[in-house]
Amino acid sequence: MPKIAVYPGSFDPATYGHLDIIKRSLEIFDKVIVAVIRHPHKEPLFTLQERVKMLKVATKDLKNVKVDSFEGLLVNYVKSQKTNIIIRGLRAISDFEYELQMVLMNRRLNNSIETIFLMPEEHYSYLSSSLVKEIVFSGGKASKFVPPVVEEALHRKFSVDKSGRSW
Ligand code: COA
Repeated sequence: MPKIAVYPGSFDPATYGHLDIIKRSLEIFDKVIVAVIRHPHKEPLFTLQERVKMLKVATKDLKNVKVDSFEGLLVNYVKSQKTNIIIRGLRAISDFEYELQMVLMNRRLNNSIETIFLMPEEHYSYLSSSLVKEIVFSGGKASKFVPPVVEEALHRKFSVDKSGRSW
């Protein structure tokens, strides 16, 4: 049986920190499913289709990665993919409380699901999608933090949308 893991998130947008976690997961699992959430009550900067497309481009050279989307409970999606493993990145202590809450809640929802935490490369430990959006929105360059497909999309987005929306 191939070992499959699901790496869920908003990926609004994906950063090199996320790609680092995907690559590390591939060292452990035969297949990694990157699962982009369709948030029912969060308005992302990028549509679900845009987030999925950017991730597909960014991971095109990585074997055994599938980019998918989901809505509803994560534990149900994980089961539907014939696995019980969730991957999450843990960047700093500040991530821990939220992640612990999610693990314990997911466990209450389905006791067979396990979450594995991976630490990204140190220099990605302060990276977040919100910071990257702020940098590009404020006129900075994000090429050190996101793949080219994401940086282009950010510049395109902000050149047509300078409405000052909040993320
Ligand atoms: N590198 C860089 N940034 C990272 C990162 C990494 N390795 N890992 C996380 N992040 C950042 C993201 O960029 C994001 O930053 P932002 O807040 O600035 O946008 C932040 O950490 C959190 O992002 P993400 O990993 O996408 O988590 P999330 O909180 O948006 O999504 C889900 C979490 C999708 C797993 C969760 O909401 C879920 O399971 N939803 C389904 C409904 C459900 O089952 N609910 C019950 C759960 S208990």
